[in-house]
Amino acid sequence: MIINNYIVFEGIDGAGTTTQIKLLAERFPKENVFTTAEPTGSETGKFLRRMLKGEFSVDERTASYLFAADRCEHIYGKCGIIEQTQNGKTVLSDRYFFSSLAYQSVTCGKELPELLNSPFPLPELLFYFKIDPEKSLKRVLSRGGNIEIYEKLDFQKKTAEAYDEVIKLYDGTEKGRGMTVITVDAEKSIEEIAEFIWNCVKNLPIHKA
Ligand code: TYD
Repeated sequence: MIINNYIVFEGIDGAGTTTQIKLLAERFPKENVFTTAEPTGSETGKFLRRMLKGEFSVDERTASYLFAADRCEHIYGKCGIIEQTQNGKTVLSDRYFFSSLAYQSVTCGKELPELLNSPFPLPELLFYFKIDPEKSLKRVLSRGGNIEIYEKLDFQKKTAEAYDEVIKLYDGTEKGRGMTVITVDAEKSIEEIAEFIWNCVKNLPIHKA
């Protein structure tokens, strides 16, 4: 199933999805857009954020289940993505199950993330932010603050490769079931990327005023 009016941004850490999602949201009248992210602000999401900070560790398989559980509530729960789109909103999400297929395939292999995430519906549009992991990690480190457990060059390189594979699996394939996949050159300037994304979104038939 495809969820119409649901747009997902994906990429390795520091690829710029958070910046761009904010800029895209500003193009919409406030009442027409719902911006969200994974991990979510739910109790499961908060638990995951603490794990990402390195406060404690769980088995990598457990982490896969937790990301999927958080996602399940994000999609189907009260005020979740399906409900928001049914209320006429365009939903913009910073990460979705493609993050699990990429990151968790590095930590615990492809099989479990695939099994846990294949039942989820697809977004109408997926923006994949592609960037050299050395460049994106520099951005992450230059922000200061705490470094999360996955924010290491070796890990980000593997995740970038895994993302490329995942995107290939969904782009124009039977598995993609009609979802539009657009690769963004995330090394371009913030303004250029914002313009590129808006040009893609505004031309979608459902978003025309
Ligand atoms: P991120 O989206 O970069 O948020 P923030 O900028 O607030 O730190 O961080 C979330 C991290 O969680 C990122 O390293 C990717 C990881 N992640 C997974 O490993 N699997 C998932 O399914 C999701 C949604 C995120």
